[in-house]
Amino acid sequence: MVGAFPEGFLWGVAVSSFQVEMGRGAVADGSDWWVWVHDEENKRRRWVSGDSPEDGPGFWELYRQDYKLARGLGCNAFRLSLDWTRVFSASTKGVAVEVHRDRHGNIEKVRVDDRAMRELAKLADKASVRRYRQIFSECRVQGMEPMVTLYHWPIPLWLHDPIATRDGVASLGKRGWLDEETLVEFAKYCAYAAHAFGDLVDLWGTINEVKIVSDHGFLDGGEFPPGLNDFKAFMVAMRHLSMAHGLAYEQVKRWDQASAGPHGPSNVGIVTVLHYHEPIDPSSEADVKAAMFNDYLFNEWSLNAVFRGDYDMDVDGLVEGDEALPHLVKGCDWIGVNYYMRRRVMHEAKGGDPRLDFAFAPAADPSDIGFDTFPEGLRWVCDWVYSRYRRPIYVTENGIADASDSMRERYLLGHLDAVQRAIEMDGVPVRGYFHWSLIDNLEWSSGYKVRFGLCSVDAVTKRRTPKASATVFKRIAEANMLT
Ligand code: BGC
Repeated sequence: MVGAFPEGFLWGVAVSSFQVEMGRGAVADGSDWWVWVHDEENKRRRWVSGDSPEDGPGFWELYRQDYKLARGLGCNAFRLSLDWTRVFSASTKGVAVEVHRDRHGNIEKVRVDDRAMRELAKLADKASVRRYRQIFSECRVQGMEPMVTLYHWPIPLWLHDPIATRDGVASLGKRGWLDEETLVEFAKYCAYAAHAFGDLVDLWGTINEVKIVSDHGFLDGGEFPPGLNDFKAFMVAMRHLSMAHGLAYEQVKRWDQASAGPHGPSNVGIVTVLHYHEPIDPSSEADVKAAMFNDYLFNEWSLNAVFRGDYDMDVDGLVEGDEALPHLVKGCDWIGVNYYMRRRVMHEAKGGDPRLDFAFAPAADPSDIGFDTFPEGLRWVCDWVYSRYRRPIYVTENGIADASDSMRERYLLGHLDAVQRAIEMDGVPVRGYFHWSLIDNLEWSSGYKVRFGLCSVDAVTKRRTPKASATVFKRIAEANMLT
Protein backbone atom coordinates (compact mmCIF):
# COMPACT_ATOMS: atom_id res chain seq x y z
CA MET A 1 0.00 0.00 0.00
CA VAL A 2 1.30 3.46 -0.83
CA GLY A 3 2.86 5.07 2.20
CA ALA A 4 2.64 1.98 4.40
CA PHE A 5 5.45 0.87 6.69
CA PRO A 6 6.25 -2.83 7.10
CA GLU A 7 4.44 -4.93 9.68
CA GLY A 8 6.26 -4.98 13.00
CA PHE A 9 7.92 -1.61 12.28
CA LEU A 10 9.13 -0.02 15.50
CA TRP A 11 7.79 3.44 16.24
CA GLY A 12 9.61 5.08 19.04
CA VAL A 13 11.00 8.18 20.67
CA ALA A 14 14.55 8.57 21.93
CA VAL A 15 16.08 10.13 25.05
CA SER A 16 19.42 9.81 26.85
CA SER A 17 20.15 9.53 30.55
CA PHE A 18 22.12 12.74 31.12
CA GLN A 19 19.64 14.80 29.14
CA VAL A 20 16.42 13.71 30.86
CA GLU A 21 16.97 11.80 34.07
CA MET A 22 17.82 14.54 36.52
CA GLY A 23 15.38 17.02 38.02
CA ARG A 24 12.82 16.62 40.81
CA GLY A 25 15.70 16.05 43.20
CA ALA A 26 17.34 13.25 41.21
CA VAL A 27 21.03 14.01 40.71
CA ALA A 28 23.89 12.03 39.16
CA ASP A 29 27.01 14.08 39.77
CA GLY A 30 29.75 11.52 39.12
CA SER A 31 30.44 12.16 35.45
CA ASP A 32 32.77 14.18 33.27
CA TRP A 33 29.73 15.85 31.70
CA TRP A 34 28.46 16.95 35.10
CA VAL A 35 31.76 18.62 35.89
CA TRP A 36 32.01 20.02 32.37
CA VAL A 37 28.71 21.89 32.37
CA HIS A 38 29.27 23.23 35.90
CA ASP A 39 32.83 24.41 35.37
CA GLU A 40 33.20 28.16 35.86
CA GLU A 41 35.97 28.51 33.30
CA ASN A 42 33.84 26.75 30.67
CA LYS A 43 30.99 29.12 31.49
CA ARG A 44 33.30 32.13 31.23
CA ARG A 45 34.51 30.96 27.81
CA ARG A 46 30.87 30.41 26.81
CA TRP A 47 31.64 26.82 25.98
CA VAL A 48 28.62 25.81 28.03
CA SER A 49 25.27 27.51 28.56
CA GLY A 50 25.29 27.60 32.35
CA ASP A 51 22.15 25.44 32.47
CA SER A 52 22.27 22.58 34.94
CA PRO A 53 21.24 18.97 34.41
CA GLU A 54 19.73 18.87 37.89
CA ASP A 55 17.02 21.21 36.57
CA GLY A 56 16.09 18.56 33.98
CA PRO A 57 12.77 16.88 33.20
CA GLY A 58 13.13 14.30 35.98
CA PHE A 59 12.68 11.07 34.00
CA TRP A 60 14.32 9.16 36.86
CA GLU A 61 11.17 9.84 38.89
CA LEU A 62 8.64 10.38 36.12
CA TYR A 63 9.43 7.53 33.72
CA ARG A 64 6.01 5.91 34.15
CA GLN A 65 4.37 9.13 33.06
CA ASP A 66 6.73 9.50 30.10
CA TYR A 67 6.04 5.96 28.95
CA LYS A 68 2.33 6.69 29.09
CA LEU A 69 2.93 9.79 27.01
CA ALA A 70 4.94 7.85 24.42
CA ARG A 71 2.43 5.04 24.32
CA GLY A 72 -0.28 7.63 23.78
CA LEU A 73 1.67 8.85 20.76
CA GLY A 74 1.50 5.41 19.17
CA CYS A 75 4.95 4.17 20.20
CA ASN A 76 5.71 0.47 20.45
CA ALA A 77 9.38 1.11 21.29
CA PHE A 78 11.43 3.52 23.41
CA ARG A 79 15.12 4.32 23.08
CA LEU A 80 16.96 5.34 26.24
CA SER A 81 20.43 5.01 27.70
CA LEU A 82 22.09 3.60 30.74
CA ASP A 83 24.29 5.98 32.70
CA TRP A 84 27.60 4.20 33.29
CA THR A 85 28.36 6.61 36.14
CA ARG A 86 25.20 5.66 38.02
CA VAL A 87 25.88 1.93 37.68
CA PHE A 88 29.52 2.25 38.73
CA SER A 89 29.98 5.38 40.78
CA ALA A 90 32.90 3.49 42.36
CA SER A 91 35.90 2.48 40.29
CA THR A 92 36.00 -0.99 38.74
CA LYS A 93 39.74 -0.79 38.06
CA GLY A 94 40.47 -3.23 40.90
CA VAL A 95 38.42 -6.03 39.31
CA ALA A 96 40.95 -8.34 37.66
CA VAL A 97 40.18 -9.49 34.11
CA GLU A 98 42.30 -11.11 31.43
CA VAL A 99 43.25 -8.66 28.70
CA HIS A 100 44.48 -10.20 25.45
CA ARG A 101 46.48 -8.11 23.04
CA ASP A 102 47.37 -8.59 19.40
CA ARG A 103 50.94 -8.44 18.14
CA HIS A 104 50.71 -4.64 17.79
CA GLY A 105 49.61 -4.33 21.40
CA ASN A 106 45.96 -3.51 20.65
CA ILE A 107 43.38 -4.86 23.06
CA GLU A 108 41.79 -7.79 21.27
CA LYS A 109 39.72 -9.34 23.98
CA VAL A 110 38.73 -8.72 27.58
CA ARG A 111 37.78 -11.87 29.42
CA VAL A 112 35.34 -11.23 32.25
CA ASP A 113 34.92 -14.49 34.15
CA ASP A 114 32.35 -15.47 36.78
CA ARG A 115 34.57 -14.35 39.63
CA ALA A 116 35.04 -10.92 38.05
CA MET A 117 31.29 -10.73 37.48
CA ARG A 118 30.64 -11.40 41.17
CA GLU A 119 33.03 -8.60 42.09
CA LEU A 120 31.40 -6.23 39.62
CA ALA A 121 28.00 -7.09 41.07
CA LYS A 122 29.32 -6.21 44.54
CA LEU A 123 30.66 -2.86 43.33
CA ALA A 124 27.59 -1.82 41.35
CA ASP A 125 25.33 0.78 42.87
CA LYS A 126 22.38 -1.28 44.08
CA ALA A 127 19.81 1.51 44.15
CA SER A 128 20.63 2.56 40.59
CA VAL A 129 20.52 -1.02 39.32
CA ARG A 130 17.18 -1.52 41.01
CA ARG A 131 15.81 1.66 39.47
CA TYR A 132 17.05 0.81 35.98
CA ARG A 133 15.41 -2.60 36.29
CA GLN A 134 12.13 -0.87 37.14
CA ILE A 135 12.63 1.53 34.24
CA PHE A 136 13.24 -1.23 31.69
CA SER A 137 10.53 -3.55 32.94
CA GLU A 138 7.95 -0.77 33.10
CA CYS A 139 8.73 0.01 29.48
CA ARG A 140 7.67 -3.51 28.56
CA VAL A 141 4.66 -3.43 30.87
CA GLN A 142 3.46 -0.38 28.98
CA GLY A 143 3.80 -2.23 25.67
CA MET A 144 7.07 -0.82 24.34
CA GLU A 145 10.31 -2.53 23.36
CA PRO A 146 13.22 -0.83 25.15
CA MET A 147 16.30 -0.10 23.06
CA VAL A 148 19.16 0.63 25.44
CA THR A 149 22.34 2.52 24.54
CA LEU A 150 25.30 1.62 26.71
CA TYR A 151 27.31 4.77 26.07
CA HIS A 152 25.52 8.03 25.45
CA TRP A 153 28.37 10.16 26.72
CA PRO A 154 28.85 10.60 30.47
CA ILE A 155 32.04 8.86 31.64
CA PRO A 156 32.70 8.26 35.35
CA LEU A 157 34.99 10.83 36.92
CA TRP A 158 37.28 8.06 38.10
CA LEU A 159 38.10 7.55 34.39
CA HIS A 160 37.92 11.06 33.05
CA ASP A 161 38.88 14.35 34.64
CA PRO A 162 37.72 16.60 31.79
CA ILE A 163 39.13 19.80 33.21
CA ALA A 164 42.62 18.38 33.78
CA THR A 165 42.48 16.86 30.28
CA ARG A 166 41.40 20.21 28.86
CA ASP A 167 44.28 21.92 30.63
CA GLY A 168 46.77 19.24 29.62
CA VAL A 169 47.54 18.13 33.17
CA ALA A 170 45.52 14.90 33.43
CA SER A 171 47.45 11.82 34.41
CA LEU A 172 47.14 8.54 32.54
CA GLY A 173 43.99 6.71 33.48
CA LYS A 174 41.98 9.91 33.82
CA ARG A 175 41.88 11.03 30.21
CA GLY A 176 38.70 9.26 29.13
CA TRP A 177 38.77 8.00 25.56
CA LEU A 178 42.41 8.98 25.14
CA ASP A 179 43.34 6.15 27.51
CA GLU A 180 43.23 2.50 26.53
CA GLU A 181 42.32 1.73 30.11
CA THR A 182 38.88 3.21 29.44
CA LEU A 183 38.29 0.39 26.95
CA VAL A 184 38.93 -2.26 29.58
CA GLU A 185 36.65 -0.60 32.11
CA PHE A 186 34.00 -0.09 29.44
CA ALA A 187 34.10 -3.81 28.63
CA LYS A 188 33.57 -4.64 32.31
CA TYR A 189 30.64 -2.24 32.57
CA CYS A 190 29.02 -3.67 29.42
CA ALA A 191 29.45 -7.23 30.69
CA TYR A 192 27.79 -6.26 33.95
CA ALA A 193 24.98 -4.33 32.24
CA ALA A 194 24.19 -7.31 30.00
CA HIS A 195 24.22 -9.59 33.04
CA ALA A 196 22.08 -7.30 35.21
CA PHE A 197 19.52 -6.21 32.62
CA GLY A 198 19.68 -8.86 29.90
CA ASP A 199 16.43 -10.50 30.94
CA LEU A 200 14.65 -7.19 30.32
CA VAL A 201 16.57 -5.82 27.33
CA ASP A 202 17.13 -7.40 23.92
CA LEU A 203 17.97 -4.42 21.73
CA TRP A 204 21.31 -2.96 22.71
CA GLY A 205 23.17 0.01 21.19
CA THR A 206 26.86 0.16 22.07
CA ILE A 207 28.28 3.60 21.31
CA ASN A 208 26.22 6.64 20.43
CA GLU A 209 28.00 8.58 17.68
CA VAL A 210 31.74 7.94 17.64
CA LYS A 211 32.01 10.95 15.37
CA ILE A 212 30.29 13.54 17.56
CA VAL A 213 32.14 12.52 20.73
CA SER A 214 35.49 12.67 18.93
CA ASP A 215 34.80 15.72 16.82
CA HIS A 216 33.18 17.97 19.42
CA GLY A 217 35.44 16.77 22.23
CA PHE A 218 38.83 16.62 20.55
CA LEU A 219 38.75 18.63 17.32
CA ASP A 220 36.26 21.48 17.65
CA GLY A 221 37.74 22.72 20.92
CA GLY A 222 34.97 23.85 23.22
CA GLU A 223 31.53 22.41 23.40
CA PHE A 224 32.20 18.85 24.61
CA PRO A 225 34.59 17.51 27.22
CA PRO A 226 37.55 17.72 27.18
CA GLY A 227 37.40 20.68 24.75
CA LEU A 228 40.57 19.94 22.78
CA ASN A 229 41.55 21.08 19.32
CA ASP A 230 44.02 18.42 18.34
CA PHE A 231 43.76 16.22 15.27
CA LYS A 232 45.95 13.51 16.74
CA ALA A 233 43.83 13.27 19.89
CA PHE A 234 40.72 13.26 17.72
CA MET A 235 41.99 10.22 15.81
CA VAL A 236 42.87 8.41 19.04
CA ALA A 237 39.33 8.98 20.29
CA MET A 238 37.87 7.76 16.97
CA ARG A 239 40.02 4.66 17.21
CA HIS A 240 39.26 3.84 20.83
CA LEU A 241 35.53 4.45 20.48
CA SER A 242 35.38 2.20 17.40
CA MET A 243 37.29 -0.50 19.28
CA ALA A 244 34.95 -0.05 22.24
CA HIS A 245 32.05 -1.15 20.07
CA GLY A 246 33.68 -4.53 19.41
CA LEU A 247 34.52 -5.10 23.06
CA ALA A 248 30.98 -4.19 24.10
CA TYR A 249 29.50 -6.42 21.41
CA GLU A 250 31.37 -9.44 22.70
CA GLN A 251 30.43 -8.82 26.32
CA VAL A 252 26.74 -8.34 25.63
CA LYS A 253 26.58 -11.48 23.48
CA ARG A 254 28.33 -13.44 26.22
CA TRP A 255 26.40 -12.12 29.21
CA ASP A 256 22.89 -11.58 27.86
CA GLN A 257 21.48 -14.89 26.79
CA ALA A 258 17.95 -14.26 28.03
CA SER A 259 15.20 -13.25 25.63
CA ALA A 260 12.69 -10.73 26.81
CA GLY A 261 10.77 -10.68 23.53
CA PRO A 262 10.98 -11.27 19.79
CA HIS A 263 14.29 -9.42 19.34
CA GLY A 264 16.22 -11.47 21.87
CA PRO A 265 18.34 -12.57 23.43
CA SER A 266 20.80 -9.85 22.46
CA ASN A 267 20.59 -7.88 19.29
CA VAL A 268 23.53 -5.51 19.36
CA GLY A 269 24.22 -2.57 17.06
CA ILE A 270 26.17 0.64 16.85
CA VAL A 271 24.50 4.04 16.64
CA THR A 272 26.13 6.36 14.17
CA VAL A 273 25.39 9.89 13.05
CA LEU A 274 25.32 10.36 9.28
CA HIS A 275 25.27 13.72 7.55
CA TYR A 276 24.36 14.26 3.94
CA HIS A 277 27.42 16.04 2.51
CA GLU A 278 27.25 18.01 -0.68
CA PRO A 279 29.84 20.26 -2.34
CA ILE A 280 28.58 23.82 -2.44
CA ASP A 281 29.83 24.10 -6.02
CA PRO A 282 29.79 20.72 -7.79
CA SER A 283 31.98 22.12 -10.57
CA SER A 284 34.75 23.07 -8.12
CA GLU A 285 37.25 20.29 -7.68
CA ALA A 286 38.32 21.67 -4.30
CA ASP A 287 34.74 21.73 -2.96
CA VAL A 288 34.06 18.21 -4.25
CA LYS A 289 37.23 16.97 -2.59
CA ALA A 290 36.34 18.66 0.69
CA ALA A 291 32.84 17.10 0.63
CA MET A 292 34.28 13.67 -0.09
CA PHE A 293 36.78 14.02 2.74
CA ASN A 294 33.99 14.91 5.16
CA ASP A 295 32.03 11.89 4.01
CA TYR A 296 35.01 9.64 4.50
CA LEU A 297 36.13 10.92 7.87
CA PHE A 298 32.79 11.59 9.51
CA ASN A 299 30.40 9.04 7.97
CA GLU A 300 32.59 6.19 6.91
CA TRP A 301 35.74 5.96 8.99
CA SER A 302 34.37 4.46 12.19
CA LEU A 303 32.04 2.07 10.31
CA ASN A 304 35.00 0.80 8.29
CA ALA A 305 36.74 0.16 11.59
CA VAL A 306 33.75 -1.64 13.10
CA PHE A 307 32.90 -3.73 10.04
CA ARG A 308 36.28 -4.32 8.43
CA GLY A 309 38.88 -3.56 11.03
CA ASP A 310 40.20 -0.70 8.87
CA TYR A 311 41.94 1.81 11.12
CA ASP A 312 43.22 4.37 8.63
CA MET A 313 45.03 6.46 11.24
CA ASP A 314 46.77 8.78 8.80
CA VAL A 315 43.46 9.28 6.99
CA ASP A 316 44.97 8.90 3.55
CA GLY A 317 42.15 6.65 2.33
CA LEU A 318 44.49 3.64 2.26
CA VAL A 319 44.63 0.91 4.86
CA GLU A 320 48.25 -0.13 5.13
CA GLY A 321 50.40 -2.20 7.48
CA ASP A 322 49.22 -2.11 11.07
CA GLU A 323 46.16 -0.09 10.07
CA ALA A 324 44.52 -3.34 8.94
CA LEU A 325 43.12 -5.01 12.06
CA PRO A 326 40.45 -7.43 10.81
CA HIS A 327 40.83 -9.57 13.95
CA LEU A 328 39.30 -6.69 15.95
CA VAL A 329 36.01 -7.04 14.09
CA LYS A 330 33.58 -8.64 16.52
CA GLY A 331 30.22 -8.14 14.88
CA CYS A 332 27.36 -5.71 14.62
CA ASP A 333 23.78 -6.91 14.20
CA TRP A 334 22.23 -3.62 13.08
CA ILE A 335 23.13 -0.03 12.39
CA GLY A 336 21.42 2.83 14.16
CA VAL A 337 21.30 5.92 11.98
CA ASN A 338 21.02 9.33 13.61
CA TYR A 339 20.22 11.78 10.86
CA TYR A 340 19.78 15.49 11.36
CA MET A 341 21.10 17.50 8.45
CA ARG A 342 22.71 18.25 5.16
CA ARG A 343 26.12 19.87 5.14
CA ARG A 344 27.10 21.92 2.13
CA VAL A 345 30.85 21.77 2.14
CA MET A 346 33.31 24.23 0.64
CA HIS A 347 37.05 24.43 0.45
CA GLU A 348 38.52 27.05 2.78
CA ALA A 349 42.21 27.43 3.44
CA LYS A 350 42.92 27.63 7.17
CA GLY A 351 46.69 27.51 7.24
CA GLY A 352 46.95 24.30 9.28
CA ASP A 353 46.50 20.67 8.27
CA PRO A 354 45.39 20.97 4.62
CA ARG A 355 42.89 18.14 5.06
CA LEU A 356 40.98 20.38 7.42
CA ASP A 357 40.72 23.12 4.81
CA PHE A 358 36.96 23.09 4.63
CA ALA A 359 33.97 24.99 5.95
CA PHE A 360 30.23 24.60 5.85
CA ALA A 361 27.92 26.99 4.03
CA PRO A 362 25.08 28.48 6.06
CA ALA A 363 21.98 26.29 6.08
CA ALA A 364 19.49 26.77 3.27
CA ASP A 365 16.65 25.63 5.56
CA PRO A 366 17.90 26.21 9.11
CA SER A 367 16.49 24.92 12.37
CA ASP A 368 16.80 27.01 15.56
CA ILE A 369 20.43 25.90 15.85
CA GLY A 370 21.30 26.21 12.17
CA PHE A 371 21.07 22.54 11.15
CA ASP A 372 20.16 22.39 7.48
CA THR A 373 16.89 20.49 7.09
CA PHE A 374 17.08 18.18 4.09
CA PRO A 375 14.67 15.23 4.23
CA GLU A 376 15.87 13.47 1.07
CA GLY A 377 19.25 13.13 2.75
CA LEU A 378 17.77 10.56 5.13
CA ARG A 379 16.81 8.29 2.24
CA TRP A 380 20.25 8.78 0.78
CA VAL A 381 22.14 7.87 3.98
CA CYS A 382 19.94 4.80 4.58
CA ASP A 383 20.63 3.62 1.02
CA TRP A 384 24.33 4.32 1.36
CA VAL A 385 24.87 2.67 4.73
CA TYR A 386 22.89 -0.42 3.76
CA SER A 387 24.53 -0.88 0.38
CA ARG A 388 27.92 -0.68 2.04
CA TYR A 389 27.53 -2.63 5.28
CA ARG A 390 24.43 -4.79 4.65
CA ARG A 391 22.81 -4.71 8.07
CA PRO A 392 19.23 -3.93 9.11
CA ILE A 393 18.79 -0.30 10.02
CA TYR A 394 16.98 1.58 12.71
CA VAL A 395 16.64 5.33 12.42
CA THR A 396 17.64 5.82 16.03
CA GLU A 397 17.41 9.64 16.03
CA ASN A 398 15.85 12.24 13.80
CA GLY A 399 14.36 15.53 14.96
CA ILE A 400 14.57 19.30 14.88
CA ALA A 401 15.41 22.11 17.29
CA ASP A 402 12.23 24.13 16.88
CA ALA A 403 11.12 25.98 20.01
CA SER A 404 8.02 27.41 18.32
CA ASP A 405 6.98 24.01 16.90
CA SER A 406 6.36 25.71 13.58
CA MET A 407 8.71 23.51 11.51
CA ARG A 408 8.36 20.10 13.15
CA GLU A 409 5.29 18.89 11.28
CA ARG A 410 6.88 19.51 7.87
CA TYR A 411 10.12 17.99 9.17
CA LEU A 412 8.36 14.81 10.30
CA LEU A 413 6.38 14.37 7.10
CA GLY A 414 9.42 14.91 4.88
CA HIS A 415 11.71 12.59 6.80
CA LEU A 416 9.16 9.82 7.23
CA ASP A 417 8.44 9.98 3.53
CA ALA A 418 12.18 9.56 2.92
CA VAL A 419 12.31 6.51 5.22
CA GLN A 420 9.26 5.01 3.55
CA ARG A 421 10.80 5.45 0.10
CA ALA A 422 14.08 3.91 1.21
CA ILE A 423 12.12 0.84 2.32
CA GLU A 424 9.59 0.65 -0.48
CA MET A 425 11.54 1.82 -3.49
CA ASP A 426 15.13 1.01 -2.62
CA GLY A 427 14.55 -2.18 -0.64
CA VAL A 428 16.47 -1.01 2.43
CA PRO A 429 15.51 -2.99 5.57
CA VAL A 430 14.72 -0.08 7.88
CA ARG A 431 13.15 -1.70 10.94
CA GLY A 432 12.12 1.30 12.98
CA TYR A 433 12.07 5.06 13.48
CA PHE A 434 12.81 6.81 16.79
CA HIS A 435 12.08 10.51 16.98
CA TRP A 436 14.45 12.74 18.90
CA SER A 437 12.92 13.50 21.28
CA LEU A 438 9.87 12.74 23.39
CA ILE A 439 10.33 15.79 25.60
CA ASP A 440 12.36 18.99 25.58
CA ASN A 441 15.57 18.26 27.46
CA LEU A 442 19.12 19.37 28.22
CA GLU A 443 20.78 19.84 24.84
CA TRP A 444 24.25 19.21 26.27
CA SER A 445 26.35 22.39 26.33
CA SER A 446 23.58 24.40 24.71
CA GLY A 447 21.15 23.87 27.55
CA TYR A 448 17.36 24.00 27.70
CA LYS A 449 16.63 26.72 25.18
CA VAL A 450 17.26 24.25 22.34
CA ARG A 451 14.03 22.29 22.07
CA PHE A 452 13.77 18.99 20.25
CA GLY A 453 10.72 17.59 22.06
CA LEU A 454 7.37 16.47 20.72
CA CYS A 455 6.22 17.55 24.18
CA SER A 456 7.25 20.57 26.23
CA VAL A 457 8.17 20.39 29.91
CA ASP A 458 7.26 23.04 32.46
CA ALA A 459 10.48 24.11 34.16
CA VAL A 460 8.90 24.19 37.62
CA THR A 461 6.08 21.65 37.72
CA LYS A 462 7.73 19.33 35.13
CA ARG A 463 4.33 18.92 33.56
CA ARG A 464 4.55 17.57 30.01
CA THR A 465 2.37 19.01 27.26
CA PRO A 466 2.20 17.52 23.76
CA LYS A 467 2.85 20.04 21.00
CA ALA A 468 0.79 20.19 17.79
CA SER A 469 3.46 18.18 15.95
CA ALA A 470 3.00 15.31 18.40
CA THR A 471 -0.44 14.72 16.86
CA VAL A 472 1.18 14.26 13.45
CA PHE A 473 3.62 11.71 14.81
CA LYS A 474 0.79 9.89 16.57
CA ARG A 475 -1.37 9.76 13.48
CA ILE A 476 1.38 8.19 11.39
CA ALA A 477 2.68 5.82 14.07
CA GLU A 478 -0.80 4.51 14.90
CA ALA A 479 -1.70 3.99 11.25
CA ASN A 480 1.79 2.59 10.49
CA MET A 481 1.41 4.62 7.35
CA LEU A 482 1.95 8.11 6.00
CA THR A 483 -1.50 9.61 6.06
C1 BGC B 1 22.68 13.19 20.16
C2 BGC B 1 21.62 13.72 21.09
C3 BGC B 1 21.40 15.19 20.83
C4 BGC B 1 20.92 15.35 19.42
C5 BGC B 1 20.51 16.75 19.01
C6 BGC B 1 22.58 13.72 18.75
O1 BGC B 1 23.85 13.96 18.25
O2 BGC B 1 22.72 11.79 20.19
O3 BGC B 1 22.00 13.44 22.40
O4 BGC B 1 20.55 15.78 21.75
O5 BGC B 1 21.94 14.92 18.56
O6 BGC B 1 21.59 17.60 18.85
